[in-house]
Amino acid sequence: MRHTLNVVILIVVVTVGLLFVVNKIDWMPVAASTAAGPVDWLFGLNLDVITVLYVLINGIMLYSVFMFRRKRGDDSEGSYFHGDTKLEIGWIVIPTVIVLAFAVIGGSVLKQVSAADKEELKVIVTGRQWSWTFEYPDLGITTTELNLPVNMQAHFLLRSEDVIHSFWVPQFRLKQDLVPGQEKELRITPTLLGSYQLMCAELCGTSHAYMVAPVNVLTAEDFEIWRQKRLGIYQEPAGEGGGAAEDPAALGAKVASSAGCIACHSIDGSKLVGPTWKGLFGRTETMADGSTITVDDAYLHESIVNSGAKLVQGYADLMPKNFGDSLTDQEIKGLIEYIRTLK
Ligand code: CUA
Repeated sequence: MRHTLNVVILIVVVTVGLLFVVNKIDWMPVAASTAAGPVDWLFGLNLDVITVLYVLINGIMLYSVFMFRRKRGDDSEGSYFHGDTKLEIGWIVIPTVIVLAFAVIGGSVLKQVSAADKEELKVIVTGRQWSWTFEYPDLGITTTELNLPVNMQAHFLLRSEDVIHSFWVPQFRLKQDLVPGQEKELRITPTLLGSYQLMCAELCGTSHAYMVAPVNVLTAEDFEIWRQKRLGIYQEPAGEGGGAAEDPAALGAKVASSAGCIACHSIDGSKLVGPTWKGLFGRTETMADGSTITVDDAYLHESIVNSGAKLVQGYADLMPKNFGDSLTDQEIKGLIEYIRTLK
């Protein structure tokens, strides 16, 4: 009886202390979507239950290990007992109830976060080794950065061109695999303006870690301006004068990272899936068919929009074929200027 009381006091005290500590820690990144509330609440509940179980199991075990040690010189047998029906029923029923409760709560949260809004922005997301493309079918835009208007539900249709990838923006909380041959769905309503990063959350090959894309949550006005700029129909408001254009090479450096180029092309001379960009401009390359080409603007342009046309010897035809659609002329020009600077 004394032991039972001791162990109960020990477990209650440690549980209260540990619950205080784990609830003090800020586990999650900033909450930027409507899903964050229910998901974080469920995470917190899960964490509390795990904390209680952790202390319960380890508390009883450690107490027993120290209190019921064999005494020096005591070689007698331990007392024999067979089963304890009440205990066995308890450790079957209680965990079953907990697991079932979590299934019900989890199901209800899932229903809540995947509910469709009346108004939505459709975005077709295509993943491949190792880049992302975003197509807005209702806007006629294809791009390599994901721009979303705040407080409007984005309805993602996710497709993979090769292996399994996974769409994950931690600030939005939800994650969805892209499965080759299937179309997966995901609904997210961003609630916080800002820039985030989409990352692939499924190990998908050598450059998996570089399979990222920028995500911008914009006001409705800024989203509209971006839409018009992408479509080439934007007109500067009178009297504002169109600020200085961005340096093409600087734009190119940004695109190289956002469009996923650097996943396959190094800028330091090392050999990846594709030829390095270091010293590429002006270099004489031997093609797969044995001919040679001196790398110039025209060759780089062709290699970006129609990558398989003239393949450098020793490299497979792996580069996505849609950069002509997903990159603007300005972005392609920027990339070429950027490659030119990599001596
Ligand atoms: Cu795609 Cu990892």
